[in-house]
Amino acid sequence: MRILVCKNYDEMSKKAAQMILSQVTLKPNSVLGLATGSTPVGMYKQLVKMYNDKQIDFSEISTFNLDEYYNLPKENNQSYDYFMKENLFNYINIPKENINIPNGMAKDVEAECERYDKSIKDCGGVDIQVLGIGHNAHIGFNEPTINFERGTHLVDLKQSTIEANARFFDKEENVPKKAITMGTGSIFKARKIMLLACGESKAQAIYNTVYGKVVPEVPASILQFHNDIVLILDEEAASKLKP
Ligand code: F6R
Repeated sequence: MRILVCKNYDEMSKKAAQMILSQVTLKPNSVLGLATGSTPVGMYKQLVKMYNDKQIDFSEISTFNLDEYYNLPKENNQSYDYFMKENLFNYINIPKENINIPNGMAKDVEAECERYDKSIKDCGGVDIQVLGIGHNAHIGFNEPTINFERGTHLVDLKQSTIEANARFFDKEENVPKKAITMGTGSIFKARKIMLLACGESKAQAIYNTVYGKVVPEVPASILQFHNDIVLILDEEAASKLKP
């Protein structure tokens, strides 16, 4: 595990965007695994800026998002589909047909999960996966549980995750209780992984991810076994790693 500690959120976002820039420059038809949530917003802003400055071209890129709320129409301004358009896709030249997000409105969820895993495989797998991390060390929406899930699946969100996400909704009762997420197994298959975390509230999750036992109760701990992973942290998220 490589760990980069940045002064602040802005520096973390710039570093992360530079890594995507390098990836896309080296392989213009890269497959990017993307995350939502508040952490990568600054990185997406940087990528849009790089695109406007003609430093990066997304015309051959494909993307796969980690997750989507279950039973929330994509037109809803809290859906992850909406989030990705608002934060990135509407401002860059990625072809629409290259964008992949689980369909949270699918009638047959199992078939949707299988379809999603097959699409990732058919694209050649994810070259670089961007991750955030939950306070309970969830990645994607792989919540602490008793086994590591392999493929894309439907999950019940933990109460703590529902509470953390309530800040984006009018009322907590409107926060979806389920989501479709790539499994820890699918995430682990990415050739490179870049996990971003900022703020003191993530410090314990980061500590457990780096130094804890590899157990499904700490989903991100599995990343200790990945051979090409970088954690890009601000000083607060890294604060418990200091001796
Ligand atoms: C989002 C996702 C989640 C978030 C995590 C942290 O696609 O997969 O695992 O990365 O909940 O969210 P923020 O960045 O809002 O703290």
